[in-house]
Amino acid sequence: MNQKSPLRVAIAGIGGFGSSHHAVFSGLEAQGRVRVVATCDPAQDRLGEICARHRFSERGVRVYAGFEEMMAAHAGQLDLGVVATPPHCHAGMHQALVEAGIPCYLEKPPTLDPEEFERMVEVESHAASPTNVGFCFVHDHARLALKQRILDGEFGALQRSTFLGLVQRTPGYFQRSRWAARLLLDGKLLLDSCLGNAMSHYVNNLLFFSGLDSLAERARPLSASCELYRANEIEGTDTIFVSGVLRNGVEFRMAASHACPSATQLTEEVMVFDRATIIIRGGTGGVIQWGDRAPEEAPLSTPALSSCMDEYLAFLGGRLPRPPQTLEECRGFVEMNALFYLASGPGIHNVPDRARSRNPETQAVVITGIEEAGRTFLAQGTFPSQAGHSWGRRGGAASVEALPDLLSRIQHCGTQR
Ligand SMILES: NC(=O)c1ccc[n+]([C@@H]2O[C@H](COP(=O)([O-])OP(=O)(O)OC[C@H]3O[C@@H](n4cnc5c(N)ncnc54)[C@H](O)[C@@H]3O)[C@@H](O)[C@H]2O)c1
Repeated sequence: MNQKSPLRVAIAGIGGFGSSHHAVFSGLEAQGRVRVVATCDPAQDRLGEICARHRFSERGVRVYAGFEEMMAAHAGQLDLGVVATPPHCHAGMHQALVEAGIPCYLEKPPTLDPEEFERMVEVESHAASPTNVGFCFVHDHARLALKQRILDGEFGALQRSTFLGLVQRTPGYFQRSRWAARLLLDGKLLLDSCLGNAMSHYVNNLLFFSGLDSLAERARPLSASCELYRANEIEGTDTIFVSGVLRNGVEFRMAASHACPSATQLTEEVMVFDRATIIIRGGTGGVIQWGDRAPEEAPLSTPALSSCMDEYLAFLGGRLPRPPQTLEECRGFVEMNALFYLASGPGIHNVPDRARSRNPETQAVVITGIEEAGRTFLAQGTFPSQAGHSWGRRGGAASVEALPDLLSRIQHCGTQR
């Protein structure tokens, strides 16, 4: 792209994570690198405090209620479009930006509907400049260096990649918008969940580190076994146990829940190789455990929206060869998310009241023994239904060949508890 300076930017979405984008772009504007010319949000009337905080009037940011209206008003005058709206808005906004020849920074997940994803990839094939999807870890230079060591064979063959995520969410999180924790929205697949949204970065990381053909490759799943649970008053799932095999033969296991006792986030990414085990706690604290020598620290950067955006701007400015994560590189992630449901056997199990309590401070719903269940699953592959948890219920198994059945499968996945 022939970059003009400063770049003229439009941001779709003002509230929620849109506000984080506005904060980042205010900073970039102060450095003279961009000028935010427009933003839009149908809820703008209720977002006066956020509009004031980001000083839209003083900065000359035009505020619109609708995306189409904003695009029409600034036709031919935009150098970058940022989509920080809910996932069901992404495909249409991405298409409008691509067709207008404007580079797009698209929030993750691009979509969780595999068919919509393929339509987006087709649209993207006509893009003047590749879209970046906002998965915020994979551009970290220390992670890329660690992956290079994996590719160089320093740790031996990768046997298994796992993720444990206990990230508490309160009832307000599930009530914040009409799409939160929904399987379907207006009859279309949405599939919002702990691993499809809040912890999606870690699923993407697992696929990134397990893609063994090149630095850029993200692995794709082949088959999975899964148990899905619903502890909160929601339609979708807030607790997922899944194991399976990637197309390159590497095993994976993930256990994730929003219904956990502590408000302190617990995330552990573990990769087991022939000669070493890599453990990344809290997204940044990497340790390499060797069988025959002392452990080695492998610190990683804190993932931040600002650094992810910096990388995309550097790409648009011709200073980097590629964006941090292209749309097509999300295919394995979208397939993996779909497999959770296809492989869930009878669908999402309601956690019985006797196995639910509340964190007295946050009021978050907590599943009894969730951390132990997660740790046992990751260490031994034993699902909660096999490990004697009173709330454990059998799931099922499936391969990616079942992907075309996803919509009908979801229609039988159970309803709001
Ligand atoms: N990268 C990250 O770490 C991170 C963190 C949080 C959220 N996200 C992603 O950001 C996106 C938004 O999530 P959220 O939780 O902020 O959602 P949200 O429901 O809070 O929506 C964000 C804003 O978009 C507005 N909006 C809704 N429809 C719109 C439309 N048609 N046009 C313009 N604005 C519209 C909403 O009114 C709201 O103000 C999602 O894709 C989410 O997964 C990413």
